[in-house]
Amino acid sequence: MTGLDDLVGRHVIDSPADMEEFGRRVGGMLRPGDLLVLTGSLGAGKTTLTRGIAESLDVRGRVQSPTFVIARTHPSLHGGAPLVHVDAYRLGTSGELDDLDIDFARSVVVAEWGAPFAAAVADTWWEIELDREWGGTGLDTACGGSGPAARELDADAPRLATVTRRP
Ligand SMILES: Nc1ncnc2c1ncn2[C@@H]1O[C@H](COP(=O)(O)OP(=O)(O)OP(=O)(O)O)[C@@H](O)[C@H]1O
Ligand SMILES: [Mg+2]
Repeated sequence: MTGLDDLVGRHVIDSPADMEEFGRRVGGMLRPGDLLVLTGSLGAGKTTLTRGIAESLDVRGRVQSPTFVIARTHPSLHGGAPLVHVDAYRLGTSGELDDLDIDFARSVVVAEWGAPFAAAVADTWWEIELDREWGGTGLDTACGGSGPAARELDADAPRLATVTRRP
């Protein structure tokens, strides 16, 4: 796997648009059989990143935050690999992931909250951790208070993306 080797390390992503652009770079480096796990708190930008990946893979359908769907397959528009977008947030056990019958070998699989399950389905995978509570966001001043920053979590604010090869 060479995949995301060139991106390993930390990246500051300033806005949702930049997160999508980062996703397009990531998507251009992923191949069928690759598994990418996305970690980071609610609203960190996992789905936004996945949108960019979907764009560069040129797959059908809008990448959404699945409310009831745990895994959504987006077929390629030109005979390439499909993108399987997994939201493992409510997944109980890795057995349940097995039940989804994902064709890992032929797909690019991006799994939000997938860290606890990755080892059950892959020998090696990539992880991108998104952090919005690092220095510079102003969030620390919002802690325990009702300051304006607390109400502006959706406003453009830098995220720290850390790319790692696992395990
Ligand atoms: N630098 C940034 N990168 C990504 N998203 C950002 C950034 N700054 C602000 N945002 C906003 O943060 C939100 C991220 O939402 P998104 O659904 O991508 O997060 P998520 O990690 O998938 O959340 P969940 O855990 O609920 O699935 C969006 O509203 C987006 O506009
Ligand atoms: Mg999401």
